[in-house]
Amino acid sequence: MNAKQLAGEKAVEHVKDGMLLGLGTGSTVYWSILKLGDLVKKGLNIKGVPTSTNTEKLAINLGIPLVSLSSINQLDLTIDGADEANRNFELIKGGGGALLREKMVASISRRFITVIDDTKMVTDLGEFPLPVEIIQFGWELTLKQVSELGSKPKLRMDNNAPFITDNGNYILDCYFGKIQDANGLKNTLNMIPGVVENGLFVNMADTIIIGNKNGSVSTLYK
Ligand code: MLT
Repeated sequence: MNAKQLAGEKAVEHVKDGMLLGLGTGSTVYWSILKLGDLVKKGLNIKGVPTSTNTEKLAINLGIPLVSLSSINQLDLTIDGADEANRNFELIKGGGGALLREKMVASISRRFITVIDDTKMVTDLGEFPLPVEIIQFGWELTLKQVSELGSKPKLRMDNNAPFITDNGNYILDCYFGKIQDANGLKNTLNMIPGVVENGLFVNMADTIIIGNKNGSVSTLYK
């Protein structure tokens, strides 16, 4: 079993019958969703809120019942991946492009488990470029304003055209170097008018499940 699968499947041990679940997006939580699909076939009663159209399609194919975010006030648990995590439980997310919906879903979750492989656990965030979702209107201006914060933003591309999120927006991938004050940067970025949301998740994850190359799994609790 690869490290991502180990972490993804381990997280599902925290799921209990009757739970309302946030279903993350990406290559690690993919394994959690596959496992949930198996358990649903065997009678587990859960409902999920997907964080992307990709996860929505996957869940529908697996027969996982879904509800819309608007129809609920709180989720019991969200399981999602991350591109980087540190020992303060701060995350960079958005490599998969779903950061906005992921953050909305995480914000109403009583618990948030992050599933990663051991290559994503870092001392300092920032080697992975921080994804920032911006509106298309005036995007060059927003890029300039983000770069003035000390980053080198690049418009994310997809086959020679700008990558478009599920929300119809663009993404800037931003090299800030080592991020020392994740909360401050998160708030400063979101003050720029053309910025919709950024991939810094602070005070959201309470558990990090790490799949290791050697086949073991480590769990960190906040
Ligand atoms: C993300 O945060 O964009 C993804 O969930 C990371 C992943 O692929 O696991």
